[in-house]
Amino acid sequence: MKISIHYKITAIFGIIIGIILMGVYFYLNANLSERAYLKTKDNLLKQVFLSKSFIEQSVDKKNTSSKQIDALAKHIAKDLRVRVSIISLDGILEGDSELNGQQLLEVENHLQRPEIQQALKSQVGENRRFSTTVKKEMLYIAALYGKKKPLGVIRLSIPLLEIEIISGNLKKMLSAAFFIAFIVALLISFFVSMLISKPVREISLMATGIAAGDLSKRILIASNDEIGDLIKAFNFMAEQIKSRIEEVTAGKSKLEAVLLSMFEGVMVVDDMGKILFINQTLRDLFKSEIDVKGKTPLEIMRNIEIQEITDMILKLKGGVKSREISVTLPEKKILLINAAPIAKGAVFDGAVLVFHDISNLRHLEKIRRDFVANVSHELRTPISSIMGYTETLLDGALRDKDNAEDFLRIIHSDSERLAKLIDDVLDLAKIESDNLNLVLKPCSIKKIVQRIVSGLETRAKAKSLKININISDNMAAIMADENRIAQVLVNLIENALKYTESGEICVLAEEEKNFLRIIVSDTGMGIPEKDIPRLFERFYRVDKAHSKELGGTGLGLSIVKHIVHAHNGEVSVQSRQGKGSSFSFTIPKA
Ligand SMILES: Nc1ncnc2c1ncn2[C@@H]1O[C@H](COP(=O)(O)OP(=O)(O)OP(=O)(O)O)[C@@H](O)[C@H]1O
Ligand SMILES: [Mg+2]
Repeated sequence: MKISIHYKITAIFGIIIGIILMGVYFYLNANLSERAYLKTKDNLLKQVFLSKSFIEQSVDKKNTSSKQIDALAKHIAKDLRVRVSIISLDGILEGDSELNGQQLLEVENHLQRPEIQQALKSQVGENRRFSTTVKKEMLYIAALYGKKKPLGVIRLSIPLLEIEIISGNLKKMLSAAFFIAFIVALLISFFVSMLISKPVREISLMATGIAAGDLSKRILIASNDEIGDLIKAFNFMAEQIKSRIEEVTAGKSKLEAVLLSMFEGVMVVDDMGKILFINQTLRDLFKSEIDVKGKTPLEIMRNIEIQEITDMILKLKGGVKSREISVTLPEKKILLINAAPIAKGAVFDGAVLVFHDISNLRHLEKIRRDFVANVSHELRTPISSIMGYTETLLDGALRDKDNAEDFLRIIHSDSERLAKLIDDVLDLAKIESDNLNLVLKPCSIKKIVQRIVSGLETRAKAKSLKININISDNMAAIMADENRIAQVLVNLIENALKYTESGEICVLAEEEKNFLRIIVSDTGMGIPEKDIPRLFERFYRVDKAHSKELGGTGLGLSIVKHIVHAHNGEVSVQSRQGKGSSFSFTIPKA
């Protein structure tokens, strides 16, 4: 059970005050009866002497009757409120305030009473004993009286019970006074201890607050003593803790911000291989929303290779390990993992793993490899054809005039194809290497379209196709490199002509916020849905044989995409197989 320091101090004060008061009380109490007795005796002695002189003035032995003496005793007693006895020198009780005439006669001789004997000997005598006459414990004081010679003894007596009563009353008063003093002292100590314990309580409250994270509280320093020093130290400590926590929090949030904004995934595991932290990038990579703390990498990422590299670094406790792995869940990705141990001094504390998503890099590398393979393949076909036909011609076919001409025509067409392929590849390489050197200036899309369409008119006519231009005269100008935009349009309109057998081709433009959208649509063969996403890849052709027959290399749309992107525009395609296609691109307004 918790007892407040306030109550403890009060209790200690209470006990100390109680002990002191009780000591004083018992001491006074013990002496009280004795003091009361001595006081009463002293009083009685004074009264005896007073009565003695009074009686000496009033009594003349020869002329005073025993009746007068008795009246005198009663008179003195009335004033002094004590028992007064007057005894003759031979011990006869001549007067007594408590006895009447008859009783006086019956009382035995008092000569042998100790106080009388003492008084006869030495003027004054005293004794305390039980009085057979009045049946009470009494204190007697007797004195000889008589001016020139002793005439008798005057004796005053008082019941000791009376002293007891007086001392009893005193004791009661004393008890009451001590009790009140005790209560008052207790109350004072209660308030004093409250005053002392108040700052202690405040310190305790503040400490509890600090433990609960509230560092804003401060205590007012009211005293210039040890408690004041303690409060000062406490306030200082709170201030220090606050600034340390702020420092740590700032450092932590900085680190968190860095980890959060990192493009790489980061995972920290403890020395037992349990996850302590993973950053958002890694969470996104593995789509893990659950609380990962305390779990193993295998549980979260479901990849044995990640678990293996974690285990390896925890086992080796040194060096940096790198490994490239491919994950299939939740997405197909290639990750480069760098794992390093975390050590605090000589103590090994876990490991940190950094995940680089190198899927794009590897994909680009693959595209480049494929590109080289594709280019060599595309080049080989016309070259082998040219080589084959020239060999045949040299082997004698040259003399066969009809065939020789056909062969030469094929060689010419393959050479043209080769030249176009080389042109396209070089163009694409130039565009891709960001060396496009665009000459941007405001230009009218309608004019460009008209120029190109008139150039392709003959080819359209040969296939009985009509090219419609639907662009308003006051269409906004575009900010573009005219020649490159012309290249885009040639590619798109050529495709439309190539892959359309009947119907019409339409070129239109519309405004879209800060852009102009140019649409080239046809009523041709259309493109299967599965091929649409890959359409803009280099050398991608829906129907390779058919496209080749038409002299296509599969680079046209790739060039289109790059030129439009270089203008900050977008390309898109909509197509339905057998119904037609619609290619569109956007170019910023001037
Ligand atoms: N308007 C269209 N209608 C149907 N298919 C199309 C259309 N435009 C392009 N395609 C398909 O997309 C493929 C890629 O087009 P791209 O222009 O890149 O190459 P190409 O026309 O075959 O050759 P190149 O343009 O280099 O001479 C084509 O082979 C064709 O299959
Ligand atoms: Mg094309």
